[in-house]
Amino acid sequence: MIVITPSAGIPYFPPDIIKSATGIFRTKRAINIFERKIENFFGAKYFIATNSGTTAFYIILLFLKSISPSDKKEVILPAYTAPSLILPIKRAGLEPKLADIHPETFNMDIQKVLESITKKTLSVLVVHMFGIPVDFKHVQESIKKKDVYVIEDAASSMGSKIYGKYTGTIAEIGFFSLNRGKNTSNLTGGLIYLRNKENLKRVKKLAGDLPSISSLQKINTFAKICGLSLAVRPFFYTVLNPLISKYKYTTLHKDFDAYQYNSVQSALGEEVLKRYKIIFKLRKRNGDMLYKGLKNNSNLVLPTLPHNAEVVFNQFPIVVKNKKNKEIIFRKLLEVGIETTFLYEKPLHHFYPELSPDRKKEPFPYSLFLAERLLLLPTHPQISTQKIRTIIEIVNEYA
Ligand SMILES: Cc1ncc(COP(=O)(O)O)c(C=O)c1O
Repeated sequence: MIVITPSAGIPYFPPDIIKSATGIFRTKRAINIFERKIENFFGAKYFIATNSGTTAFYIILLFLKSISPSDKKEVILPAYTAPSLILPIKRAGLEPKLADIHPETFNMDIQKVLESITKKTLSVLVVHMFGIPVDFKHVQESIKKKDVYVIEDAASSMGSKIYGKYTGTIAEIGFFSLNRGKNTSNLTGGLIYLRNKENLKRVKKLAGDLPSISSLQKINTFAKICGLSLAVRPFFYTVLNPLISKYKYTTLHKDFDAYQYNSVQSALGEEVLKRYKIIFKLRKRNGDMLYKGLKNNSNLVLPTLPHNAEVVFNQFPIVVKNKKNKEIIFRKLLEVGIETTFLYEKPLHHFYPELSPDRKKEPFPYSLFLAERLLLLPTHPQISTQKIRTIIEIVNEYA
């Protein structure tokens, strides 16, 4: 049997499980402890926990909508990113508007974003994809002058820095995800970041008005955490694969659940937080090694990383110029027990055709190019240096 290391996930240890069990008996107030510890970690205020990154984004949108003129309805986001981001925009009664990515950075093209801003624009969502920071400092002021809010999506980039600042805390508003595929995880979860104290009360009220989960659901959450703690271990991942694949997202989400956070997951978060520095360090080390080992391969495109950035790679993105070779590399790596992913194989406007400004001509060609050729290599803490060497060898051989 070939033991397969999953493409994502961080391991949990007995103290994590014990701590999350204590959360079953704690009240909502315990969630504040996790939030304050997160603030200490980031050296930034204010953080509010929610049940997912999607909910965090939704609450932010409701807030911005409530303080803005009613004709400001557009939210600009990259054409290649998580398709689920469209759901909170629509549910908040707003309109998504796409901008192409930059072929070199794999992230949104800030120049194109600036060109897309109109009087109707409420907000620009700066998504730091794959853990790679978007360098948006130079345009922050000009966006602000247009009365447009920058929201940072640091769902995949927790721990990454640019100009010495953590992504997600550079603009005045941001959010993070703690779902099971992210840089660090509480099974699921989201964090809103808000710099201005004046806004805190209103955002807290919006988040606090969401329903909370019952005691029975808390026990269910704890059981899922126990399940995940096994599922991310390569041996159990391999043995339990037929069952685990049922829990993987394979279809486009049509809606999302918006709840308050719960004390089981916040208790887990308190324990995992003690390892954030080491988890982020390992992800960075693994990503840097992959970069070094693959950068001279002319059959690949690697992202150009911004200067002054410290990249905590969520997964390491490579573009395999020859589409067919992407699948070959995927298979060859799986044969030696290393799982990779294609992530989203389509840009957003191919999932949602109504977001395409022009149905005849491809409006966002770089996003399509990336979606079709992207392969994500694992960088999580369970990937040893030996495995990284194997990945480099196989990718270089078959690209
Ligand atoms: C870039 C990005 N933003 C937002 C989200 C949503 O986060 P969550 O899964 O916690 O709702 C994701 C999740 O995959 C993501 O990748």
